[in-house]
Amino acid sequence: MAQAKPEQTFLMDIQEIRKRARQHMEKGAVTDGYKADLTTVLRVLNEALATEIVCVLRYKRHQFMASGLNAQSVAAEFQEHAAEEQSHADSIAKRITELGGEPNFSPEGILTRSHSQYVEGNSLVDMIKEDLVAERIAIESYGEIVRYLGDNDPTSRRLMEEILAKEEEHAEDMRSLIERVSKAGL
Ligand SMILES: [Fe+2]
Ligand SMILES: [Fe+2]
Repeated sequence: MAQAKPEQTFLMDIQEIRKRARQHMEKGAVTDGYKADLTTVLRVLNEALATEIVCVLRYKRHQFMASGLNAQSVAAEFQEHAAEEQSHADSIAKRITELGGEPNFSPEGILTRSHSQYVEGNSLVDMIKEDLVAERIAIESYGEIVRYLGDNDPTSRRLMEEILAKEEEHAEDMRSLIERVSKAGL
């Protein structure tokens, strides 16, 4: 017969927590209990922000190029992705300020900070392939970020997990779009 596991103890010094909460109030959400290396987390989140901005720009270019190629349904898909990447950028910027950092929106160096690349692509299929590549880069690098954050900053980790799931959807959208466009001979 399996033995019942002893109950796990949860001990917390609430007096100490109450005392510490009153110190360094200027740090807002960042308490003494924050376990991650804040400088690294802010740098990594700013890299993710740059990645999202580059993705917005690339999808926007593709949206308007596809309209010019008379591929309205493809253009609509690019437009939807651009809007979702924009909302990812906003959420990451918000998290950076919560952590007391500054979101870096400077155009200078944005491609260096970004994990994904900006490739314009000429034909419709080329554009979609470049988007798929960028999504796959984001998936890998965000996975690394999630693992790095671990239990040290659960809020940032959860945010990056949500964005990662969306990038996986995007990649699948682009994969099936390549099939659709190839079949239609667009
Ligand atoms: Fe994104
Ligand atoms: Fe994406």
